[in-house]
Amino acid sequence: MIEYRNLRVALLGAGSVGAQVASLLIEHGEELANRAGAGLELVGVAVRDIAAPRTAEIPRELLTTDAESLILGADIVIELMGGLEPARTLILQALNSGADVITGNKALLATHGPELFEAAEQVGAQLYYEAAVAGAIPIIRPLRDSIAGDRIKRILGIVNGTTNFILDRMDTDGDSLEEALATATTLGYAEADPTADIEGFDAAQKTAILASLAFHTTVPLDAVYREGITTVTAEQVDSARKAGYVVKLLAICERLTDAEGVEGVSARVYPALVPRSHPLAAVHGAKNAVFIEAEAAGDLMFYGAGAGGIETASAVLGDLVSAARRHVIGGPGVAESTHANLPILPMSRVITRYQITLSVVDQPGVLAAIATLFSAHGVSVETLSQSVLAQSVKGRPGDTAPSATLVIGTHEASEADLAATVTALETSHVVRSVTSVLRVEGS
Ligand code: NDP
Ligand code: HSE
Repeated sequence: MIEYRNLRVALLGAGSVGAQVASLLIEHGEELANRAGAGLELVGVAVRDIAAPRTAEIPRELLTTDAESLILGADIVIELMGGLEPARTLILQALNSGADVITGNKALLATHGPELFEAAEQVGAQLYYEAAVAGAIPIIRPLRDSIAGDRIKRILGIVNGTTNFILDRMDTDGDSLEEALATATTLGYAEADPTADIEGFDAAQKTAILASLAFHTTVPLDAVYREGITTVTAEQVDSARKAGYVVKLLAICERLTDAEGVEGVSARVYPALVPRSHPLAAVHGAKNAVFIEAEAAGDLMFYGAGAGGIETASAVLGDLVSAARRHVIGGPGVAESTHANLPILPMSRVITRYQITLSVVDQPGVLAAIATLFSAHGVSVETLSQSVLAQSVKGRPGDTAPSATLVIGTHEASEADLAATVTALETSHVVRSVTSVLRVEGS
């Protein structure tokens, strides 16, 4: 057996992911040492409750509640506790002591990323975070390294497994959102508080990380526009299917030039209509996928498990091998690149396509009146179909004319123009209600 230099690895957290990391590191230690060119000695595992049950076996003598002491003298610290504190303070302590740090903590990176990267750079340490976005899927390293020579135009990501599972169930089995969420919770996909999933907070954190990397610009979490899936109805999912679309919660990172010629970055999360022919439409269940449109490489898609203890542990151990190799070879490592420093464009400046569903009075002249409203706000109509005749639906008191349902698809328009159009539709005497407004992405 080859004699390697030994690296001391401290693990903070032994929950779903941490316990699997500890178990795989112990079980595959020799193989990982051969790949890294260094022995990887797990010197301890910090937890809150030493007696708590674990999903994988960890030798009792490795467990400790004293995370601060464990960090001292470690070459590599793996943070898998989650949350902002004490994770932030412990990571800063580890970096300042010269250790490389590996984390899967998207909430922490999206909130305090710049502070942590700066601390790492100042002492020449590295911060690795492959597990923070889309679990097992390699996406951070491809963006940082493999595609670093290209210019990324747009990223469309399905980065939250719970919401993809829910929308997929609504589409394929006709489940209600509540039924599908209950199943996702039973299967262990959802966060303890599923608000983070269904209101898009988890996806927004991952979007901030991806957009910052892709566009060499710091994109703070509060600059990510966010809508969750709680307003998505069975009717929207059904009518999307009939029109050849599927509803997906998308993380969108885009470099765009707005109507005033300003080039900037847009980072946003919302449920959108995706054409059934798009590769993202085939991402079912709790799976994740990240679709990248690059200038030279063209379209690339990364697909796989976005969560799960052992799946995410794979990404963490990949980072561990990278960190160990750097310890062996030396060198400064890669600093975060924010040189482009592009402006972050507000949602009102985003340009995309829309599908609007209206309940209207079914009488002569209505189509002309609606077309005039769109044109008055600079929004060009691409498709129009009178999809359902609901003769029995009555309008306002005294209004006995029958109703019809109109589904209108637009050409590209700015969010501001579209919003003004919707406001005008809502007050028009020929429109009984605006029943749905969804953005169309990926076409
Ligand atoms: P868990 O909640 O399952 O585990 C957290 C672990 O951290 C527990 O072992 C807990 O100890 C320990 N811990 C928490 N606070 C402290 C503290 N103050 N001091 C010492 N130990 C503490 O989290 P996960 O494993 O699910 O997630 C870990 C990280 O990985 C998070 O940042 C998460 O966002 C990220 N991630 C998770 C994925 C997943 O599928 N689960 C996927 C991708 C990323 P004890 O067990 O004693 O309570
Ligand atoms: N709750 C998250 C999801 C876990 O559903 O994708 C992974 O971040």
